Amino acid sequence: MRVSSSIPPDRAFLATALHTPERGRLEVLRDTLIVAGGDGRIQEIHPARSPQTGALIRRFASAGTLVTLGPGQYLLPGLVDLHVHAPQWPQLGRALDLPLEEWLQAHTFPLEARYADLGYADSMYESLVEALLANGTTTALYFGTIHLPATQRLADICLRKSQRALIGRVAMDDPAQCPAYYRDASAQSAEAQTRAFIAYVQSMPGNRGGLIRPVITPRFIPSCSDDLLSRLGALARETGCHVQTHCSESDWEHRYVLERCGITDTAALERFGLLTRRTILAHGNFVDAGDIALIANHGAGIAHCPLSNVYFSDAVFPLQRVLQQGVHVGLGSDIAGGGSPSILDNARIAVMVSRLLESGVDPALTRPQRRRPGARIDAVTAFWLATAGGGMALELDVGVFREGFQFDAMVIDAGVPNSNLRLDPADTPEEILQKIIYLAGRANIREVWVANRRVHAQDTAPRGGPL
Ligand code: GUN
Ligand code: FE
Repeated sequence: MRVSSSIPPDRAFLATALHTPERGRLEVLRDTLIVAGGDGRIQEIHPARSPQTGALIRRFASAGTLVTLGPGQYLLPGLVDLHVHAPQWPQLGRALDLPLEEWLQAHTFPLEARYADLGYADSMYESLVEALLANGTTTALYFGTIHLPATQRLADICLRKSQRALIGRVAMDDPAQCPAYYRDASAQSAEAQTRAFIAYVQSMPGNRGGLIRPVITPRFIPSCSDDLLSRLGALARETGCHVQTHCSESDWEHRYVLERCGITDTAALERFGLLTRRTILAHGNFVDAGDIALIANHGAGIAHCPLSNVYFSDAVFPLQRVLQQGVHVGLGSDIAGGGSPSILDNARIAVMVSRLLESGVDPALTRPQRRRPGARIDAVTAFWLATAGGGMALELDVGVFREGFQFDAMVIDAGVPNSNLRLDPADTPEEILQKIIYLAGRANIREVWVANRRVHAQDTAPRGGPL
């Protein structure tokens, strides 16, 4: 879908909106008027039935800028994906049976090396950004590849399609873990290319509001020399840019860093200057109490990737423990470590794996040995992670319907043909949200909006014709 780059008009949305302004708390904005401005931000929120709101509604209706949701339709905040490998899109759903370190060498690095070809990069990135928008992902934190031109194309495509995107050119220079055909020539050149990418994004025409942001992206400690990690830490301090990397994902990764650095992954990242308020650590499955305290003290965040963790992590992420220590957490698809592009899928899987952690999984153990009481999260918390939690982790004003926040939203429609989502008049708002999380598919995501621009509209025209 082509999105106009001109300033959008002030617009008003008349809808029942569901959102989670705090962790674990669902708020229903029944029959509400949300006014979004030309700067993409929410200007006003009013109950639709008040007399003053009537005049506003008439004004927007006569200007042709009133969007009215119908029965069975709900307005929800757009979804935040805190961890996506954009180049791994063609790998989604395959090669999920190897351990992480073998999967990287046998499948992932050879695939990522192909992005030296800009034509390939263009077609893959176009298709990915469209698919993520259609799945309701309005903000994505992307790993690119080591290639500056291809990663610039990803930024161009996100800007043209108006997806809020934080993007990193991947830095990886250590010959011990990176093959000769896919690694930075040196720590100096990796730093120089990272600087060039930051400068490119910051001067992109049309990126005035910072819809696209550059991210300092050391792949993970095993891929990077100490020299490169120190340089990127200094760059984070110099620029204030976001940082993303993988941390304590699997037994292998956690141990590799312990052996090389003599301290945990988190502690090493801190020593290199890579743990900041704007750092997102992917996975973090093996963080210990000291790591959790370090992450919380720096205000860094964790991208919980529940589906990917099933395949690569060797354990269930201790989500409740981490949340209770005040760490920012959101959800990541980890395409293609996880086999789904959907953050709604990941929200439902986050609930499931937390239940498995709580109950335990091995019936040969006694109940007390098996259980981790208090580990479960509910669907409302999963939705908070998928929206407001991700937004807070990134320090962005997204994920909640609040004056001054970005108008990033999706229209969920239970009335589309062939819907698994079925609502009942007896459903409470909490049950409606539960049903959306457990059952809504791509077909139910009728429209998607980013910064008051419509970036996706479901084609619901009848598909007639002979079978
Ligand atoms: N660790 C380093 N690189 C990767 C990657 O591409 N995917 C995952 N899941 N973990 C990683
Ligand atoms: Fe990853």
